[in-house]
Amino acid sequence: MAYFGVKKMVSEEKVTLDYSPALGFINRDELANLAPRVRRVHQVLHDRSGPGREYLGWLEWPLLYERDEFARIKEAAERIQKQSEVLVVVGIGGSYLGARAGLEMLLSATAGEVPNGEGVRLLFAGHQLSPAYLDGLLNYLRGNVFSLNGVSISGTTTEPAVAFRFLRRLAEEKYGRSGAAERIYVTTDREKGALRRIAEDEGYERFVIPADVGGRYSVLTPVGLLPFAAAGIDIEAVMAGAAAAYQACSSPELEVNECYQYAALRQIFYNRGKTVELLVSYEPALHYLAEWWKQLFGESEGKDGKGLFPAACDFTTDLHSLGQYIQEGRRLFFETVLRVEDPGVSLAIPRMEDDLDGLNYLAGRSLGFLNEQVLRGTVLAHVDGGIPNLILNIPALTPYYFGYLVYFLQKACAASAYLLGVNPFNQPGVEAYKQNVFALLGKAGYEEQGAALRKRLEKMTEVAEE
Ligand code: PA5
Repeated sequence: MAYFGVKKMVSEEKVTLDYSPALGFINRDELANLAPRVRRVHQVLHDRSGPGREYLGWLEWPLLYERDEFARIKEAAERIQKQSEVLVVVGIGGSYLGARAGLEMLLSATAGEVPNGEGVRLLFAGHQLSPAYLDGLLNYLRGNVFSLNGVSISGTTTEPAVAFRFLRRLAEEKYGRSGAAERIYVTTDREKGALRRIAEDEGYERFVIPADVGGRYSVLTPVGLLPFAAAGIDIEAVMAGAAAAYQACSSPELEVNECYQYAALRQIFYNRGKTVELLVSYEPALHYLAEWWKQLFGESEGKDGKGLFPAACDFTTDLHSLGQYIQEGRRLFFETVLRVEDPGVSLAIPRMEDDLDGLNYLAGRSLGFLNEQVLRGTVLAHVDGGIPNLILNIPALTPYYFGYLVYFLQKACAASAYLLGVNPFNQPGVEAYKQNVFALLGKAGYEEQGAALRKRLEKMTEVAEE
């Protein structure tokens, strides 16, 4: 553990967990006592003997990923860069959030600058149904050269399927059917689904989401790697980071495995009645990483009436909106802080002759130093306010640490769900609304369900009018 506070936090070329700010709330024995259970969870994961075992393809993926497909991703990315200024990635949930998280973490930290200067601009569609959003995007694309990447495991999810139809039609109008076929790429199941069928019929290049990798565990497959490579992100470094995390998280021993420590601490807080985990960061570039994390933990654990609710805040922004509640409201939560050790830029606060704002005492200090002191002050204040804090130290916002963090969190999540006693890899609850939408839209096969839902809606109106 790298310690918060007096000891200098040393970068170790890995993401580290520091739970020293939580030690006033738990004792080390309580954590150590979970070691035998964690060992069992490790065994269940690695023996592939637990619920959802058919979705463990991600577990050894950083070592075993398909090298030929990886080479094809790089070739396609180069082609996309030559073909287009923009790549529109069409997907939702696990087929969207990871790509967006990586893009924002790695490029928006530098205000959207692409590291190697060759990447295309990534835009997203199919992650909601807003007519205004899609109309604006279509208008923008009429004036810009674009390629498309449709991403969907099932190939039937309504939001991306509808957006893909609009975008495909625009591509065909602009480039002709065969021209469109040269700039549309599809990432989907190897064998099934409507998207796969379209790709085959139209001759679009296809990339495979392995059948044993679920959506929220898929960012290190072509789901994330193709958009990253097209945007100029070094995907070799992403996979090297994931492989390093694989090694670092491979021990069954709680004492040395920080990803299991994170999982175990979450369970301790949950069992003490903390029902919410608040993931906070001080870098806006991590906003979408938190969105991806919400899906990862929310869908993996929120079932059978159990699970921590995963929420997120952007600090310091939200300290000026939710800070009051966090400090003094109901003690529902614990906090996990994403702390970036090296912000990548050093911006010195200027000295001003007049010092009218009284800030000369900070002159010459870097903005990163200021951000770090706010982080420290806030952790201490929140601990004083009764909120246990954990810190995940991320050495820098680089592709390597993105890959590292993704693997670390995926494994922590799977372990945490097994400790909780739920299947980390299914999401039966996501289907409920999808089925209702098909029924209300009149999809074939859903007629009876549609009639029943319409009746319920009418009844609600009657009751409201009484
Ligand atoms: O985790 C899930 O199952 C969902 O969030 C999916 O990722 C999302 O619904 C997209 O599904 P698909 O990739 O089949 O389009």
